[in-house]
Amino acid sequence: MNEAVFPKPAAEAVERPAPQPPLGLLAELTHRCPLRCTYCSNPLELDTRSSELDTETWKRVFTEAAELGVIHVHLSGGEPTARKDIVELTRHAAEVGLYTNLITSGIGVSEAQLDALFEAGCDHIQLSMQGADAGVTEQVAGYKGGFEKKEAFARAVVARDFPLTLNAVIHRMNIHQVPDMIDKAVAFGAKRLEIAHTQYYGWALKNRAQLMPAREDVDRTIGEVESARERLKGTLVIDAVFPDYYAKYPKLCNGGWGARTLSVTPAGKALPCHAAETIEHLEFWSVRDHSLAEIWASSPAFEAYRGTAWMKEPCRSCERRHVDYGGCRCQALALTGDPANADPACVKSDFHERLGEIATTEASTVADPGAATYRGFRKR
Ligand code: SF4
Ligand code: FES
Repeated sequence: MNEAVFPKPAAEAVERPAPQPPLGLLAELTHRCPLRCTYCSNPLELDTRSSELDTETWKRVFTEAAELGVIHVHLSGGEPTARKDIVELTRHAAEVGLYTNLITSGIGVSEAQLDALFEAGCDHIQLSMQGADAGVTEQVAGYKGGFEKKEAFARAVVARDFPLTLNAVIHRMNIHQVPDMIDKAVAFGAKRLEIAHTQYYGWALKNRAQLMPAREDVDRTIGEVESARERLKGTLVIDAVFPDYYAKYPKLCNGGWGARTLSVTPAGKALPCHAAETIEHLEFWSVRDHSLAEIWASSPAFEAYRGTAWMKEPCRSCERRHVDYGGCRCQALALTGDPANADPACVKSDFHERLGEIATTEASTVADPGAATYRGFRKR
């Protein structure tokens, strides 16, 4: 999940802090989704429908989240509206005092369902955008007719005077459309647009060679975003997250491990971040067996990389260790084999040079959408 979804934390300068209450909960209600996006950050092994938490368990989780101090719940997936109880879950989250943000593809949501969601207390809609036209949208999402459905959905939200954010994940297949996506966001009536370069977890990591943009294209989008921000002041707010692979220092990931946010998978595992299951040696507790408060306070997975006591060099003695907390543990694992290493996006990491080589090599291969692996449930 990116910085625009979760707020930045205060950077407590302590080695092993007592956890403050979390602010955000990412509720991955289901992995079912009509789209098959190649950049999806869901795990390769998707939770099946039969393994999903039932309605009452999710309601208990939302009640416990509110009692724990969570302010925002992000109803996500997969496609959260694929659940028949989405209105009931939204109503319960709103009733216990959570700010509810629905993160949706917009596909398959009827106007009647939209009305019911707003009546139930949905506060905000975040709509994914794969491209600025039908061709790119279909190529990225593997779904015919997606662009037209998304446009109709966006207009239906705005017609009801509800706040709409568009979320555009950027990569080599759509980076040439950034100015057009900004124009479409204005045309659709969105108030906010997130331009978030792909983070390489799950399906996105598998498809990295097809998704990695060239450095000059990334630099160009920075200029495009800056000039659009100036031009569209008062009309559209643009948040931007630029890629790690060309960075000098890593980003603080998810507000810090076990510091401000938590995720719950469709099957009920509580994770410090949405990609944490890739760190296979960690012990994840389930909301089926533990309260959210117990998990937050003492689950082994949340304790593993809290604070700075777990750090090795160069992070251990680095002056930025309370700023970025060593970057992303999942990216450190994926690229160096050890989640306790510095995120290789950091110039001080021994793997940093290799990261730049990977990005340059992959960005210069000829894009072949036919070679990408579209997201989907594994055939059993
Ligand atoms: Fe962050 Fe570690 Fe790099 Fe320092 S060495 S900037 S703490 S990743
Ligand atoms: Fe960054 Fe897991 S995604 S720590």
